[in-house]
Amino acid sequence: EGGGGPTHFLHIDDFDKKTVLHMLERAAEVKAVLKSGERNYQPLQGLSMAMIFTKPSMRTRVSFETGVYKLGGHAIYLGPDDIQLGKREETRDIARVLSGYNDVIMARLFAHKDLLDFAMFAKVPVINGLTDYNHPCQIMADVLTIIEHLGRIEGIKVVYMGDGNNVVHSWLRLAAFLPLHFVCACPRGFEPDTATVERARNAGVSRIEISNNPLEAVKGAHVVYADVWASMGQKEEAAIRSQRFKGFQVDEAMMETAGPQAYFMHCLPAERGVEVTDAVIEAPNSIVFAQAENRMHAQNAILLHVLGL
Ligand code: CP
Ligand code: NVA
Repeated sequence: EGGGGPTHFLHIDDFDKKTVLHMLERAAEVKAVLKSGERNYQPLQGLSMAMIFTKPSMRTRVSFETGVYKLGGHAIYLGPDDIQLGKREETRDIARVLSGYNDVIMARLFAHKDLLDFAMFAKVPVINGLTDYNHPCQIMADVLTIIEHLGRIEGIKVVYMGDGNNVVHSWLRLAAFLPLHFVCACPRGFEPDTATVERARNAGVSRIEISNNPLEAVKGAHVVYADVWASMGQKEEAAIRSQRFKGFQVDEAMMETAGPQAYFMHCLPAERGVEVTDAVIEAPNSIVFAQAENRMHAQNAILLHVLGL
């Protein structure tokens, strides 16, 4: 952040703790305004956002597009066939052209390096809508949801169950500055990126555990968190992964082992009967739909922040 260029939102720890907590407060405030039915709060009036998707999406697309609209701005969806990033046109050219028309750009890409390149050439703020490496907007929404349900985020025990993927990397990067007890329980060979784990540990802020023992890890969790076992770009590995991930499905017995205080979270889309059972996702302590809704509220605050509003 800073340095005179645009304020990008590429990793959750591009910002300090104070700024992230401020964005979360802002998210709650703007959410309350929208929930009240008030429609005259239009801070994005006259502004536009381009959204580049090289992968599918429901939540990210609709929450950004609708959020921007509700705040008075305009969002443009560019799907996988429209821009063909790096194929029809070079990333650095796309970044500069879109910067000429828009006030902010959201991008969901495969390679994280492409996002970093894109941001380097963009003249306006770039927001990360997920890469193979991380998913910071998701984690902002997750924290907002945890604060709403538990009244706080600091000191919470979050047990992520499954693949050490992009969502986990954002949790680890959050834990580098926000005190948590974060556990990633995953099968051997599916651990999160070592450098990201080390960074989180070396920051000395949070208790970080990587475990291969799901039932031991889950005990005392305030939040049990799941994601798909095969992420976008890995779908052909789904069969082999479902073999390797046996024992990591969040079912009722696992939630019972976690304890009565445990909420269930999932970034969605979920594959019921694979990483989570239908009963767990439908249970009263499942907060997945509140979490999904909060994507919009968290992102509204991110937009206001990067636009300096
Ligand atoms: N959680 C999430 O990012 O969902 P989409 O892939 O539908 O955007
Ligand atoms: N890890 C998942 C998250 C989807 C929102 C994926 O990358 O496909």
